[in-house]
Amino acid sequence: MSAGNPREELAGIARSLRTHLERERAAGTAELLAASARAAARRAESRAGTSGPAKSPRDRSFDPAPAEEASIGTPRASKRPAAPPPKSAAPAPLPHVDLFGNPVAVAVARAEEPEPLDFDLPPVHAPLNPAGLAERAQITERSLPVLGRIAEEVIACTRCGLCETRTNAVPGVGSGRSGIVFVGEAPGADEDRRGEPFVGRAGELLTRIIKAMDDAQLIDGVPLTRDTVYICNVLKCRPPENRNPLPHEIETCSPYLQRQLAALEPRLICCLGKFAAELLVGAKGTVASMRGRTYRYHGAKLIVTYHPAACLRNPNLKRPVWEDMQLLAREYRSN
Ligand code: URA
Repeated sequence: MSAGNPREELAGIARSLRTHLERERAAGTAELLAASARAAARRAESRAGTSGPAKSPRDRSFDPAPAEEASIGTPRASKRPAAPPPKSAAPAPLPHVDLFGNPVAVAVARAEEPEPLDFDLPPVHAPLNPAGLAERAQITERSLPVLGRIAEEVIACTRCGLCETRTNAVPGVGSGRSGIVFVGEAPGADEDRRGEPFVGRAGELLTRIIKAMDDAQLIDGVPLTRDTVYICNVLKCRPPENRNPLPHEIETCSPYLQRQLAALEPRLICCLGKFAAELLVGAKGTVASMRGRTYRYHGAKLIVTYHPAACLRNPNLKRPVWEDMQLLAREYRSN
């Protein structure tokens, strides 16, 4: 490109951008990126005149009682909350399709966040799935055979290469009784050995979180245990060495999760970590940027929180997780 001719330089940049977008479109992500760029531009425009500092999470957090904190994790010397998400970590706009182009979750609110959403919300047509115990009991009964059939298919599945390295496939555990579903990433070594999700160290923490919610009666009248919630993963087989799930593995495996969710008719889905969140929300982003909002996934509300394994690595995350469980409880109850 000839130096100094701005027209030619601009034309060159436009050509490379077009090529890049064509490649991305081929990979099925161009729309996400384009929507992301559009909203980033809108955000930049709307913030151009505002110079105030980013709101600290202290402003929108709560002080958990010591008993609550102790109940979900080891007591901490410091009460310092997790580092605030940088302003640049604002959520990507939601294109209302999942990573494979299917319409999925839409954001409907962000807890205690006064800023308006910077993307348009499509109307939510699906009525919210029920929370009443009698209705949940009926859903549980009709979901059982469907979940059983899905589990059989998962156990026999050879759709991707993970079947060659797994010991056991890990379909899911629990029931639709409470209407709450926790969705993690993929089985680890313990889960692979036992064929059950969240039974290793991260699983112990998840079980403690569920028990803490029950002890605190976060959802009054709804018993919360590993039996009354449903726990499953995006991937049903362990990736070797616990590496991240690959896009084609998620694409191949996610229909099992979609069918499980359809059978369970959950009232509330809690995404544990980035992979579940990106798949079910249908947008790329960090957990820090996606948590604190309430989304919809068909007839369910959906929230995002940190993966328990992240809490084990960084105990400061337990506080925001507990805040998220309170959001979960509020959203479960409200229509
Ligand atoms: N991490 C997950 O995401 N899922 C499990 O089942 C265990 C650990």
